[in-house]
Amino acid sequence: MMDAPAPTQAPLIDPFARTIDYLRVSVTDRCDFRCVYCMSEHMTFLPKKDLLTLEELDRLCSSFVDLGVKKLRITGGEPLVRRNIMWFFERMGRHLDSGALDELTLTTNGSQLAKHAAALAAAGVKRINVSLDTLDAEKFGRVTRWGKLDAVLRGIEAAKNEGMAVKINAVAIKDFNDKEVHEMIAWAGREDLDLTFIEVMPMGEMEEQERLGQYWPLTEVQKELETQWTLQPSGHKTGGPARYMNVAETGKRVGFITPLTHNFCESCNRVRLTCTGMLYMCLGQDDDADLRQPLRASESDELLHTAIREAIKRKPKGHDFDYSRQTVKGEVKKRFMSTTGG
Ligand code: GTP
Ligand code: 5AD
Ligand code: SF4
Repeated sequence: MMDAPAPTQAPLIDPFARTIDYLRVSVTDRCDFRCVYCMSEHMTFLPKKDLLTLEELDRLCSSFVDLGVKKLRITGGEPLVRRNIMWFFERMGRHLDSGALDELTLTTNGSQLAKHAAALAAAGVKRINVSLDTLDAEKFGRVTRWGKLDAVLRGIEAAKNEGMAVKINAVAIKDFNDKEVHEMIAWAGREDLDLTFIEVMPMGEMEEQERLGQYWPLTEVQKELETQWTLQPSGHKTGGPARYMNVAETGKRVGFITPLTHNFCESCNRVRLTCTGMLYMCLGQDDDADLRQPLRASESDELLHTAIREAIKRKPKGHDFDYSRQTVKGEVKKRFMSTTGG
């Protein structure tokens, strides 16, 4: 790797003095699963003609890298279902080679991972996050509505064999995976995986009682874990929102992503780009900025840089998700998680 090039542009700093150096890019809104907390069963997806081309996504992401983004996470829907997506990973790999980017990663459901693991590793991906809420094949089929657990486990194995570190993302769901958390910690330990639990967030319209019924505060998950495992504070940081603990018995880490019980917006460093070129400055707020227009208006990147800087000036303080009064407050009705990939 070469020395990092000297920045030619001022970094992106939002109105709350937070430096924005993490871009999450949803390369498709489609997915081969329909997870119950993430999508409705009958989703309408964007017409393919509305998608930016991979060349356009390359130009957009490269503009963010020019403006100081150091961490790029590719999400979906399911990013690996987008046709020719490996071309895009290879293109982004050049920013790792130049030292401009510190990390290129992805969040995937794992269904197509076995097929793509070698190419991802070759593109410079060293760490990936795989969503997996249960180790029970029947329950896995239910929570994903369509998924096959075997394929995901094979994908995780393939990624490990390529030398990539794998972190499992498990959404904590009341009366669903609450009996399994110990088994998941033990499994992650045996398989050499970190494991992060996530509180379910109110993204996309859903019956209030259904949302509240799914919610299992991570304060309770942690208490449950501590009945069988020794959790020790860890200073580990990834630039994402998880707070980590070491599990003494397994030597692996467990992470907690707690938008509801412990707000982490104060240290927010990220924005999200969708596959149509909309930029969301906060996961939990509606405001967006159209980057497709400046992207297509000119071959030079000046308009785009200006549009990005203007958008960052509008980044809000944080989300308003709140279930504390046994009602769902602050939900984002219009947008399912699959629009931005979390
Ligand atoms: P690491 O690089 O491993 O830290 O990844 P990450 O946690 O940043 O990304 P990942 O895609 O694995 O996301 C895990 C969960 O965190 C998902 O449910 C995301 O929706 C959630 N998440 C990520 N960033 C934010 C954020 O800015 N705000 C909120 N509320 N949730 C977030
Ligand atoms: N609340 C919390 N996490 C969610 N995810 C998807 N929908 C939700 C939700 N409503 C998770 C997925 C994946 C990550 C990108 O976001 O399980 O791991
Ligand atoms: Fe950042 Fe918004 Fe997420 Fe809070 S909810 S951490 S401000 S993106």
